[in-house]
Amino acid sequence: MTVINENRPPVFILLGPPGAGKGTQARYLQDRFGLIQLSTGDMLRDAVARGTEAGKQAKSVMEAGDLVSDDIVVSILSDRLASEDCNTGVILDGFPRTKAQAKVLDERLGATYQRVNAAISLKVDDEAMVERVSGRFTCADCGEGYHDRFKMPRIADTCDRCNSTNMSRRSDDKADLVANRLRAYHAQTAPLIDYYSEANLLEEVNAMEDIQTVAVAMAQIVDDIIVCAD
Ligand code: AP5
Repeated sequence: MTVINENRPPVFILLGPPGAGKGTQARYLQDRFGLIQLSTGDMLRDAVARGTEAGKQAKSVMEAGDLVSDDIVVSILSDRLASEDCNTGVILDGFPRTKAQAKVLDERLGATYQRVNAAISLKVDDEAMVERVSGRFTCADCGEGYHDRFKMPRIADTCDRCNSTNMSRRSDDKADLVANRLRAYHAQTAPLIDYYSEANLLEEVNAMEDIQTVAVAMAQIVDDIIVCAD
């Protein structure tokens, strides 16, 4: 595993529409580089499941496939970013999703002399995303992601990582909601590609390739940046 410069923990952003592979690739990078995956989608689903005030407000918005308010998401992410385990560096999976969130992130990192090291954009075709999302299922115990066609567990219905047989499917993965999530992505999140390009922080990966090929490309980007920072 690469040693990370502990004075300035690296911060990587994964940008891409629903189903692009952000969660899948974030978990590979977490395992390989010791970075911490911070998924705002997972945090919000957890808040909904626990019935917190933020979760109550987020529930109907997520069920409609729209974006949750910046205030709620920033608050949830800020609390998590302050945790000690994030000192090894983080992969932001699904954050920022609006320019307002990106600006808050810059300010928040600047206050602790940190910065975004790279925003990696997973480039995919919209048409393929509906198939990817509608075939997805996840281990409810450890969060490992699978797919009916592209990533089946080695033993049917049993998690490769933790052997659980407790698999779940997300309620917002229905085709009509995926279409709305894609619309929200193009309207509010895709402009961040220009935002990070102008800041010379944008890296692009062809995420239409198979999972392992994408993982190799992503690891190369992260490795180059971490080595340069050492
Ligand atoms: P979130 O949970 O972040 O969902 P999303 O962005 O829609 O992304 P997904 O989790 O659907 O896809 P992914 O890119 O992680 O793909 P995955 O790796 O699973 O957000 C959910 C909701 O929360 C939002 O709609 C919003 O309401 C709210 N929210 C979250 N963050 C927010 C924020 N910052 N601001 C406001 N609201 C926020 O892969 C998908 C499937 O494809 C898997 O089955 C996988 O095995 C397969 N797969 C992956 N890569 C490949 C490949 N290369 N080839 C073939 N199959 C592949």
